[in-house]
Amino acid sequence: MKRDTMLCAVIVLRQLSRYKLLNLMAIVLVMLVLDPGVFAADISSSPPAGLSREEALRLGEAMYREGVLPSGEYMQAVVEGDIPVEGPMFSCAHCHMRSGLGSVEGTIVTPPTNGAKLFKPFKSGQEFTEQQRKHLPSYLQPPDIRPAYTDAMLADVIRTGIDPGGRKLDPIMPLYLLEGRDLDILVYYLKNLSSSPSPGATDRTLRFATIVSEEVRKGDRDAMLLALSAYIKDRQSKAYYYKARTRRQLFAEEMDLSYRELTLATWELKGTPDTWRSQLEAYYRKEPVFALLGGIVKGSWSPIHEFCEKNRIPCIFPVTDQPVLSDNDWYTLYFSKGPYQEGEAVAKFLKDKGGPAVQIYRKTDEGMRLAQGYRDTAKKLGVPAADEVALNPDEEITDSFWSSVIEKYRDGSLILWLGIDDLTRIARTADADLPVAFFASSTVLGQSLNLLPEKMRQRTFITYPFRLPDDRKRIDHIVKPWLKVKKIPETNLAVSTEMYFLGTLLTDVFMHMQRNYYRDYFLDVIDMLQDESDTIANYPRLSFGPGQRYASKGCYIVQLSAGKKPRIIRKSDWVIH
Ligand code: HEC
Repeated sequence: MKRDTMLCAVIVLRQLSRYKLLNLMAIVLVMLVLDPGVFAADISSSPPAGLSREEALRLGEAMYREGVLPSGEYMQAVVEGDIPVEGPMFSCAHCHMRSGLGSVEGTIVTPPTNGAKLFKPFKSGQEFTEQQRKHLPSYLQPPDIRPAYTDAMLADVIRTGIDPGGRKLDPIMPLYLLEGRDLDILVYYLKNLSSSPSPGATDRTLRFATIVSEEVRKGDRDAMLLALSAYIKDRQSKAYYYKARTRRQLFAEEMDLSYRELTLATWELKGTPDTWRSQLEAYYRKEPVFALLGGIVKGSWSPIHEFCEKNRIPCIFPVTDQPVLSDNDWYTLYFSKGPYQEGEAVAKFLKDKGGPAVQIYRKTDEGMRLAQGYRDTAKKLGVPAADEVALNPDEEITDSFWSSVIEKYRDGSLILWLGIDDLTRIARTADADLPVAFFASSTVLGQSLNLLPEKMRQRTFITYPFRLPDDRKRIDHIVKPWLKVKKIPETNLAVSTEMYFLGTLLTDVFMHMQRNYYRDYFLDVIDMLQDESDTIANYPRLSFGPGQRYASKGCYIVQLSAGKKPRIIRKSDWVIH
């Protein structure tokens, strides 16, 4: 296919499609055509007077990412000529993305503002003949060539919206009321933003690591590690597919230049979790990696999460039900909030149902997360708080305890974050006279879900944070044969499925990254992926977006049918409002 035909096809696709992914593909191609010769140069200059490099970058980062001036005030700007605006919505990162590599939103193309691109001429349209230009829609008409920015020109364009070629920028780009040292700091920041490849990336290789700790069950460890390694190996063996086969191939040079060999190290953590952090630092010092992939440990993910925040290392889809819950942390992307999300789902489901409620849980990590999810969400929704009973992990529950609880909450809901033994006991105690509704968790019940006493089934609502069994068959029909081909024993299908999904995601992401191997761009590209609902994952839907770090946002509420082999009956949508 000729380049111009290809470009037009992409443009048509973009217009037809509301998918972010296609938008991304389009911008990658457009950027390639418009600006083929980009590779990060290390652009450094001296920081504004009186500031160290670190201090200047820290202050610049707050301006760029949050729209906050060194004084702590918001940066002021005007849009569309004279509308005053301020705050994080008008921070540079909001439009140009955290990496500065730009974005596409609908028909608006926000160009890169990182050092590597600003300080070179923008070779727009050079490659097109007049004839070819005619086929481009007006908003994609390549703007006039602008020369490389200098510091002074960059300061000018931020304040005036006039670029070094004399072109007036689209009024979507705000004009910032900045001057003096503040402006110098921002210019210094832009100059250094995504200006040289991140640690772990060379022009040949991209180094990753995955993490496993002692005491992880061997079957779980293998399910994670073997599946992830198989993906990396597979990609290596298909180098011919990612690299150019002939010089005459479309974008041959670009394909070769952007190809990286992937390597995957396994960082084994030993001893107690309080010693993990120093082990991680030691591994990292010895061999920095671009990002962490997958991983599985016994216990909380938090030591690894903290390590990644501090060193600014992306960590994509660890296998854990003990994630760190944070609204602001950036570097770790989890599949879900784990048990917390189940508590959240019950609070939403019960929102308008009324009646007294009690949560009974054991003081285990899982129990406390379930209860916390319910508690926080009820509060957020303005639902009256449930009473709570927190039991020690192996505390015996007496029949008289159950009788009194049942008596007290007969007209309400018993939220029981407990195992099958406790649930069986309550059924025995209460006999025929059961309360209105029970809630339980399918992840706490695990394999014993089917043993739920028959007489409780009609009144028991169960959180189910995964794809339902019927919907899952299709996924298993893909992952199981894949494992067979790769000679990986099926020791934990759910875990291997998570890694299979991670592999498919990475293939997409590398395609879009081109030669821009910056960690923030890696995360930006993931954030710009379209929501995945028809995908090979344990969840019916995964969604992405800037700063969204828990990809699965839903949970079903289900019930069990009668009989020895009960069916699962869906009682709610995946996302409960
Ligand atoms: C509301 C979205 C938005 C915000 C916020 C925003 N920009 Fe822009 N910016 C744009 C768009 C769109 C363009 C392209 C305009 C055009 O080419 O006509 C642009 C263009 C630019 C350019 C010119 C790039 C080139 O290659 O000539 C620079 C530099 C720039 N922005 C820097 C910044 C900085 C620095 C900030 C924060 C202080 C910022 N922008 C905030 C949307 C935004």
